[in-house]
Amino acid sequence: MKAKITLLPGDGIGPEVTESAKHILNSVASIFGHEFIYDTQPIGGIAIDQHGNPLPNNTISSCKNADAVFLGAVGGPKWSNPNSKIRPEQGLLGIRSALNLYANIRPIKIYPELVDASPLKSEYLEDVDIIVVRELTGGIYFGEKNRDDNSASDLCIYTTEEIERIIRVAAHLASGRSKKLCSVDKANVLETSRLWRDTTNKLLQKDYPDLKVETLLVDAAAMHLLSRPSEFDVMVTENMFGDILTDEASMLTGSLGMLPSASLGESKVGLYEPIHGSAPDIAGKKIANPCASIASVALLLRHSLGLESEAKSVENAISKAIASGARTIDIASNGKSGISTNEMTAEIAKNIC
Ligand code: IPM
Ligand code: MG
Repeated sequence: MKAKITLLPGDGIGPEVTESAKHILNSVASIFGHEFIYDTQPIGGIAIDQHGNPLPNNTISSCKNADAVFLGAVGGPKWSNPNSKIRPEQGLLGIRSALNLYANIRPIKIYPELVDASPLKSEYLEDVDIIVVRELTGGIYFGEKNRDDNSASDLCIYTTEEIERIIRVAAHLASGRSKKLCSVDKANVLETSRLWRDTTNKLLQKDYPDLKVETLLVDAAAMHLLSRPSEFDVMVTENMFGDILTDEASMLTGSLGMLPSASLGESKVGLYEPIHGSAPDIAGKKIANPCASIASVALLLRHSLGLESEAKSVENAISKAIASGARTIDIASNGKSGISTNEMTAEIAKNIC
């Protein structure tokens, strides 16, 4: 097939891991006989430097014209002045919103050979296979913000429509897996969470009566994710809770450098990104773990291009590379050094078949 893919490398390690993503896409194209046409556009801090805008119009139109978008990471100390009105993160939030990508899918998969890389005892990690579905275009991230000399506010709003559409995505996923769905909120304190819980319960009872539904408060969910991670299957939650819980959940896998994500909406144009962020402390050192980006490429092939065998082939290639001992420093055993981003990418690429 022929597909247009917009690449948004962004900041920090973003360009390094985007290079890995492109390398893997090129391997898939040549092995499976596809043609991928890339358009690279600025977003985040680099876009502020080049255009004074973290999300230039050309970037938005390239994404809208593409079949899929791959994003590296945005942000860094250079653009972190808390008083600045223009911030790199606005580029990321802006593109999620412009493409109406309300459903963020974050799979948490454990590679058996990496259990020692996790700070958790290995017996807790057996059979862990979780998908967190994070609402991505609502809540406190997008409500009105105000600031004066000695006060500040961030409004958190959710509508029933926004809640219903994300719950449907999660319920649909759960129906195709073990039929277990856990919804996370803070209904003992927040009105938006009470609406979330009511709407969720009504919708699931009506349209998904065969799902086993668990409801947890976010503080308890944070604890249960560490004390009984293998009991979760699909988890669904609002924007900010999903952000926090998925960084926590990444530690089950051993490194934030392992977790991919897909951001989806009603159209087939999805945005695929590693969840790790720009990691300015290691930017330019060529030691970033490309696994999260490469696993995001697999999600891109599956969800936006409908290439399931190619997606599986990339996922198997990551597993094989890890099983053969390939490690970047973040997942190397204590005291061992890791291989470079490019070497890790090559180890994975050679297993694609
Ligand atoms: C993520 C990131 C972003 C978010 C930041 C960079 C704005 O942490 O994708 O998890 O909070 O959504
Ligand atoms: Mg985050």
